[in-house]
Amino acid sequence: MTLREQMLRRKAVPDAAQATSDEQRGGLKRALGAFDLTLLGIGAIIGAGIFVLTGVGAQQAGPALTVSFTLAGVACAMAALCYAEFSTMIPVAGSAYSYAYATLGELIGWIIGWDLVLEYAVGASAVAVGWSGYLARVMAGVGMPLASSLTHAPGSVPGAVVNLPALLVVMVTSAVLYVGIRESARFNALIVAVKLAVVAVVIVVGAWFVRPHNWVPFAPFGIKGISQGAAYIFFAYIGFDAVSTAAEEVVNPSRDLPIGIIGSLAVCTLLYILVAGVLTGMVPYPHIDREAPLASAFVERGLDLVAGLISLGAVAGLTSVLLVLLLGQTRIFFAISRDGLLPAVFSRVHPRFRTPHIPTVITGIAVGAAAALIPIQEIAELANIGTLFAFVLVCAGIWVLRVTSPEIARPFRTPLVPFVPIVGMLFCAYLMASLPPITWIRFFLWMGIGLVIYFSYGRHHSRWVASEEQAGVSVAAR
Ligand code: ALA
Repeated sequence: MTLREQMLRRKAVPDAAQATSDEQRGGLKRALGAFDLTLLGIGAIIGAGIFVLTGVGAQQAGPALTVSFTLAGVACAMAALCYAEFSTMIPVAGSAYSYAYATLGELIGWIIGWDLVLEYAVGASAVAVGWSGYLARVMAGVGMPLASSLTHAPGSVPGAVVNLPALLVVMVTSAVLYVGIRESARFNALIVAVKLAVVAVVIVVGAWFVRPHNWVPFAPFGIKGISQGAAYIFFAYIGFDAVSTAAEEVVNPSRDLPIGIIGSLAVCTLLYILVAGVLTGMVPYPHIDREAPLASAFVERGLDLVAGLISLGAVAGLTSVLLVLLLGQTRIFFAISRDGLLPAVFSRVHPRFRTPHIPTVITGIAVGAAAALIPIQEIAELANIGTLFAFVLVCAGIWVLRVTSPEIARPFRTPLVPFVPIVGMLFCAYLMASLPPITWIRFFLWMGIGLVIYFSYGRHHSRWVASEEQAGVSVAAR
């Protein structure tokens, strides 16, 4: 097989679905319905983005932060429609990695898999940092303040040494995933209820304290500010795609997955726009706090109890986001390794706990170290560029596959193809372009490392090459 043939080699769609159902599903119960999936999505979505990043986002966009949330929401909606088609067509774990491998070939599959590390692992670091910030507030509120030098990454505040709570929460969450306690639907529903209650309090109570003059001027930094704000708070939407990773446990995937993906995104978009409106109406945008903007807005109005509740809710709510992101990362490493593009240790299952324990440990150490040592803003921007890039490729994949393989059964069809994928790609690319140059440099460096790994390792170990060479068949690139 030539290099070109291999790079373009696609896993056949039925193979992609079959490989997982035979080897990995191991009798997972199909127990989730559309409502459970929507809750799962909300549990994965509402987190550091709205609780933390709205602070800096508001400084970039001003009161037009509501427009930023709308812009990012539209980009996600287009991508969500494409994810919905893929998730019903190829209902397996591995998410965008598996979709890309099946449709755009091995090289693009690897690129997207490597890129997803930015979404899941790097995203998890940012959530851990946000968690630490809200924990510090809760502890201060109960009269046991934590030392600022031990709750911030070096360089973020004067005298900062390490963000210890962020490191610890990653360690504990990874330990939970190591022994494989499955997040039960009931536990998730409880956390989601707490999160939704806190967000509702922010909107309903906060609405009484809105001073409309704070919304003027509405867009002090113009379109540029709105776009930069959108690219930054885009982080708040990361996670709706995680719904697709539950595909193998859904009762009626073709109906329930699209409802779960699109429904959770719709609920969160509405809530985010309302929160942004209330926050910028309560506090003049230049004074909005950068670390815990929602809680601080209520402290300023003397509502310490409400602020305390928000902080407590944030600590609980961010934990579920962290769990989903870390879980997603280990399963993506698992799926890539199963295809031979990463060493086999990444897909070895623990003899007793039946979990991919080695990627869990590696991910835990790397995510914990990043959370301990890097400020949240820089981590979040890197997660955003990675996720946006994955969305661009998923949109492209839907379009390409409609042309190359129109015959495949599509229980859910993205409407208005190619219009929806094209708009999705354009919006996501525009948001990527609104991120700072340093983020682009880091992104290219990361992807460069990925290409080196593929050409020095993955290409020679791909399971598909190995099996074809063994069988002595030559498969032409399709
Ligand atoms: N959307 C998730 C959050 O905001 C990742 O924390």
